[in-house]
Amino acid sequence: VHPLHGEAAAAALVARGWSVTTHVVPAGEASKSWAELERGLARARAAGLERGDLVVALGGGVVGDLAGLVAALHLRGVAFVQCPTSLLAQVDASIGGKVAIDVPDGKNLLGTFHFPHAVLIDPHSLRTLPSRQLSAGLAEMLKHGALFDAAHFAELESSAAAVRAHDAQLTARLVRRSVALKAACVAADPFEVAPQGRNLLNLGHTLGHALETCSGFDLLHGEAVGLGLRAAARLSAALGLAAPTVEAAIVRALAAAGLPTDLDARLERHAAGELTGAMGRDKKRAGGTVTYIALEALGRPTTRALEPQRILDLLRPRAAPC
Ligand SMILES: NC(=O)c1ccc[n+]([C@@H]2O[C@H](COP(=O)([O-])OP(=O)(O)OC[C@H]3O[C@@H](n4cnc5c(N)ncnc54)[C@H](O)[C@@H]3O)[C@@H](O)[C@H]2O)c1
Repeated sequence: VHPLHGEAAAAALVARGWSVTTHVVPAGEASKSWAELERGLARARAAGLERGDLVVALGGGVVGDLAGLVAALHLRGVAFVQCPTSLLAQVDASIGGKVAIDVPDGKNLLGTFHFPHAVLIDPHSLRTLPSRQLSAGLAEMLKHGALFDAAHFAELESSAAAVRAHDAQLTARLVRRSVALKAACVAADPFEVAPQGRNLLNLGHTLGHALETCSGFDLLHGEAVGLGLRAAARLSAALGLAAPTVEAAIVRALAAAGLPTDLDARLERHAAGELTGAMGRDKKRAGGTVTYIALEALGRPTTRALEPQRILDLLRPRAAPC
């Protein structure tokens, strides 16, 4: 992002009288690490960043999560502004104040809540985003629709081709709707304590995170979430909560968004123990169960406490012991 947009952003701030120090981190999930956190904090100290100053996170969700944690820790917290440049960060990672790094046991396990002063979204920054990353962002938007707004879900399916063709006006409208849906959910339960509040945003993430981890991060986060959405629909039907047509609708929307739909092949690729182990390490676990976000229909979420093995059994009944 830095070579594409960094200098223009810094120059715009300087032109308005700000004094700017730039700190660049390598692209990729590996930068959400202790080492990069330490490097960022050292840079903030070396730059003499004071309480009244602020951190601007210009980049995808990796930069937002890392820069936000630096801002939360430096001098016990300085302000920060999110300038998300990937679609996934615009509709999801930059909204809601969760900041974190990864540790060897799992993703996002070390972090805090540090709400941004502002989130500035420029849809034109998406012009340089690789199309695979654009599709990954659409997965989180489909999640918002599946959770809270079936009409948004349907519009995303019919508009996915235009978004992928960089129709900035249409994309801006859909991004605004997704942001509004996520922000309303976060505002009602900012610290994720309600039984059916912010945790609903975890739809698609229990299995999604497990598939992402077990793939050695060969699947993008959004791609894994897309497969997790399909899994949630299938599991909901298996529990008698939702009609089987919900899974079919999700598969159609994932395909339109250019996302993988090969859930069965992915489930078969990994040993059951690998996936249940990864699900068992989920942050949302309580005792032996995890809070699984299910769907009664598109736009009607619900939760169930389930053991990881039961989740797998419901998702691949053919693999269950005879
Ligand atoms: N804090 C939260 O609530 C929250 C929510 C969802 C996801 N996340 C986190 O966000 C991360 C994923 O975010 P992501 O999908 O943005 O990944 P990312 O930050 O790795 O960005 C994806 C890639 O796109 C590049 N990129 C970003 N914007 C670009 C642009 N405009 N043009 C060209 N290239 C661009 C990045 O350099 C990177 O290589 C994960 O670490 C995930 O855990 C956090």
